[in-house]
Amino acid sequence: MARRGTLLVAMIGLAISVAACGRASQAEIEQALGITPTATASAAEIAGATEAAVRATMAAETAVAAAVASGGGRQVALGDVTRGSRQFLTQCSGCHRVGGAGPDLLSPGSAGAAVNTETLMPLLREGIGHPVPPGPYPAPLLSDGAIADLAAYIASEAGG
Ligand code: HEC
Repeated sequence: MARRGTLLVAMIGLAISVAACGRASQAEIEQALGITPTATASAAEIAGATEAAVRATMAAETAVAAAVASGGGRQVALGDVTRGSRQFLTQCSGCHRVGGAGPDLLSPGSAGAAVNTETLMPLLREGIGHPVPPGPYPAPLLSDGAIADLAAYIASEAGG
């Protein structure tokens, strides 16, 4: 009984103090409860942040596309080295081996180091800078993908 009496006194005291102070503001209530109010982002702020995120993603994609286009260090990811090695063995190594009719393309630091998909495409497809025969290679004989694979393989061997 004594405890219930104490509680009653406390509640009455609280009621009096609330009445005395009037209505507590939202800030006062939050302060009393230990809640730090968080700033609510406006719709415009959310839209702005979303647009910035989309722009950042697009910029990153553009950077990757540029790296792919330049071929700088990306040809291994573009072409498949294993497929390229098989292609090279059947189509190129007859001439492009040490002591062959064509320059060695596979030794580290050889002419192969400068090879990437962009340089290899006109060379093989149109025969620009390549002896005829064997070039030019038409698409049914050597697809764009196969040329990318060859570039990946040659560059990985020669250290391009
Ligand atoms: C019949 C022989 C022969 C075959 C087959 C051949 N090439 Fe060549 N290739 C040559 C010769 C010869 C040259 C040198 C041309 C020159 O310097 O004028 C050359 C040059 C090149 C070059 C330029 C090298 C440099 O010095 O910059 C590349 C790259 C190349 N060949 C890639 C290939 C690839 C890839 C294949 C296979 C799809 C291939 N070649 C098949 C004979 C051949």
